[in-house]
Amino acid sequence: GDNLMYLAHRHEIEMEGACEASLACTTCHVYVISEHKDLLPEATEKEEDLLDLAPFLREDSRLGCQII
Ligand code: FES
Repeated sequence: GDNLMYLAHRHEIEMEGACEASLACTTCHVYVISEHKDLLPEATEKEEDLLDLAPFLREDSRLGCQII
């Protein structure tokens, strides 16, 4: 399926994704503006675990490749 990272790539917006959406890196780390955060499905536990390792983690952090 499509996730935010691939969508960005299709529109030639740069977003890193070193592990190709296999939940093995944090290079696709993004911040979601608060108006949009509630519209997204919750992060899975695996995404949360990885996010804990991300530099500059914030309340609104997500992994771009996991936003569907
Ligand atoms: Fe690696 Fe998103 S690209 S977790």
